[in-house]
Order: sequence, then structure tokens, then C-alpha cells
Amino acid sequence: MLSAESNHRLTRTGADTDMGQLLRRYWMPIAAVSEFDDQSIRPVRLMGEDLVLYKDKSGTFGLVDRQCPHRRADLAYGFVEQCGLRCNYHGWLYDADGRCLEQPYEDVANPRARFRDKIRIKSYPVETRGGLVWAYLGPQPAPLVPDWEPFSWQNGFVQIAFAEVPCNWLQCQENSIDPVHFEWMHMNWGRRLRDEESEHGPKHLKVAFDEFDYGLVYRRQREDTDEAHKMWTVGRVCLWPNCFFLGDHFEWRVPIDDERTLSVSWLFFRVPNEQEPYVQDKIPAWRSDIKDPETGRWISSHVMNQDFIAWVGQGTVADRTREHLGQSDMGVVKLRQRFMSDLKLVAAGEDPKAVIRDPEQNQRIALPVADRDLFEKGVPLAQYEKLPMYGKHLHTFPFQAGQPPEVWAAFREAMGLPVVPPAPVEIA
Ligand code: FES
Ligand SMILES: [Fe+2]
Repeated sequence: MLSAESNHRLTRTGADTDMGQLLRRYWMPIAAVSEFDDQSIRPVRLMGEDLVLYKDKSGTFGLVDRQCPHRRADLAYGFVEQCGLRCNYHGWLYDADGRCLEQPYEDVANPRARFRDKIRIKSYPVETRGGLVWAYLGPQPAPLVPDWEPFSWQNGFVQIAFAEVPCNWLQCQENSIDPVHFEWMHMNWGRRLRDEESEHGPKHLKVAFDEFDYGLVYRRQREDTDEAHKMWTVGRVCLWPNCFFLGDHFEWRVPIDDERTLSVSWLFFRVPNEQEPYVQDKIPAWRSDIKDPETGRWISSHVMNQDFIAWVGQGTVADRTREHLGQSDMGVVKLRQRFMSDLKLVAAGEDPKAVIRDPEQNQRIALPVADRDLFEKGVPLAQYEKLPMYGKHLHTFPFQAGQPPEVWAAFREAMGLPVVPPAPVEIA
């Protein structure tokens, strides 16, 4: 349980808030590079700031204020030039550093005034990594975009999926340090959704939460596993500050504002050995709705959609003054305590946890990965088919509903499998 004041403090993301300042010490994934193959401009709302992300004709990404400093037109309807983004109202042109390069009429009417030199538009640094576009809204000097090791894995089919979830980011991230929900939300409820008479699966017997340089790890032992099992020896990673890393994929919970979160997932599927060498020419990206338009209810068929139901169900901003935490929630407690102590560091002008500035350190940063051999070395198809969880992933996409058929087809081709529709999702 938290006081109303602490709950408020941990959940606010605006530039004038403590947590907003802490979150601005990290790069945030906001879009996919491939989304700019057939469009050059996307409006982006990030931590309560309305911005425009664009890729100009020279291939440079820029992230600038959504409103033009001239008379406030919407730059999401601007157009790109060789260098920069031009407002569609009177043609003022801005570069990625926020400089005003042209004011077409002012440049003719009074060129010596150089009015444009007095104009700056708010702009933020943008970088690309892993097929994602990353933004940094914090103070300079900016740290480095983390080079997590999966971004360099070879022979994989990667895809990026987005969903907008109408609730605060922190309750989404608390899900990243919550092992027991797997048993109930994904296994037992998932089974019950398919079969009213289903049996419950194996129970959790113990859980553990450990801190490491880049986050928290949770480990778990169930009735059907012992201490030699990878979920006890390795576990899964609550990656700082707003990501969940499960070995084969990342899930970021990026605050759009205090009441909405962009779920960004980056998913790696190793191809069978027979398909090597496999080089992916582009990382596809897609966005899907999370509500069933026919029933008006949240979609519940896929793993992350089930998580979304938990998150939005907690309320737009979960009221942590009215919760009752137990032993299973010790990871949630650790996460909040760490953020609270990091708020003090930020107030003292220091870096919070897991900000990376050393280029030597930022090279294929190793993370706990339970199935490392599969991702690094792969297996022949016949063996792949028999793997308990990953074998099923060859025949269905269980993570998020709404995957476009062309992404499924590209995946199956990469795996060397015939393109047939995905099998129904069966979790556990
Ligand atoms: S409002 Fe943008 S150029 Fe005038
Ligand atoms: Fe989950």
C-alpha cells in the first residue's frame, strides 16, 4: 500500500514532476524505423508532450514540438524536405536541432532582419537501434541508447508490435515483476476461457526477487519444477525503468501521458538451422486495437492482451492506497522502493539506476536469458517443433492480437514453413 502522495509522485510523468524528470533520464522507444517506409511524419505524445516525429528526405529523423512557433499550426500536417520539416501553413522550415532554416515570406520581405535566427522549435534527440526509433527528453548530455544483446542476435525474424493502453504506465511496469500472475492470468484463466471444465495448472511454490545492474530479476519454482529449472536459476527480467525482458522479447511500457501507455514489444524468433543464414531485410511493425469492436470488451485471446486487461482493470491510475500486498508482491515493493530512492538521486543531480554512459560498457550488454542456446545457436526444425513453448510459436503468434497476415506470412517463410493461417492460441 502507498500513501496517496507517494502514489501521485510515482505515477506522474510530466516535465514538471519528479517522476517525469526521472523517466526523462532514459531513452524511450516511440516508433519503428519501418513505419517510415511509406510515411514521413507521425504525431507522438510522450510523457504528456505533444510532438512530431519525422524522417526527412536525407533520412534524418527529427522529433520536434507539434505546434509551429509561428502561429501554432499542427506540424503533423507539415511536409518534409531534404533537410527538416516544413509547416504547411506558411512554409517555415525546421531542422532536427530545432533551428528555423527558412521563413519564405520574411526571407523575401526583410532578409536582413534574419528573423528566423530568433526562432527555435523545441526539439529532442532521436536515435535508431534494433529497428526502433528512440527519443530522449532529458537534460544534456544524453546517455547512450542501451545496446541490449538481443539486438545483435543473428538468424532471427524480428517484429515490433504496438498497442495503446488507456492507463498509467506504472501499473503496467509492476506487471514485469509479478511471477504469480502467469499461473492465474495466463495459464488458469487462459485455460478456462477455452474450456469451462479445465483443470488448474501447477502452482507456484516459491518466488525470489534479486536486484542487478539493469533491473530486478524474478525467479520462481512451481509444483512441476525444481531448483535446477531455468525459471529458478535464471528467471525473468524487470528491465529498468519501464521494460520487461523475457529472453525472446522485450515489452516496454512507454508513458504517453499519465493516463495512457504505449505498449512496445520487440520479438525475436530464431529460424531453424536449416534456414541459415537468414538475414531479415526489414523489421516489420504493426499497431493493433485492444478492444473487440463487436462486443466492446477487451480482447482476451493473447498473452499481452490478457495483461492489458489486468492493467486497465486497476483503474486509469491504480489507487495504491486501497491495495493489500502479500508475499507475491515483494518484487513490486522493491521496484517502488528503488524508484523512490532514485528520485532522491535525480534531485541531487545524479543518474538514477541503469543509465548507461560508457561506450565500452554499452556493447551487446548481456542480460539473463533462460534459453540462450536456442537464440544464439538455434536448433534443427524437428527439434524446434518439440520444444515445449517455442515449438508452438512456430505455428501461432500468441503475444498480441491483431498481427497483420503479411507479417505472419513473412514469419512462416523465414521459418521455412508453408504459409497457412496461425493455429488458435493456447497458452500453457
Ligand atoms: S503557423 Fe507554421 S509557418 Fe505559419
Ligand atoms: Fe503477463
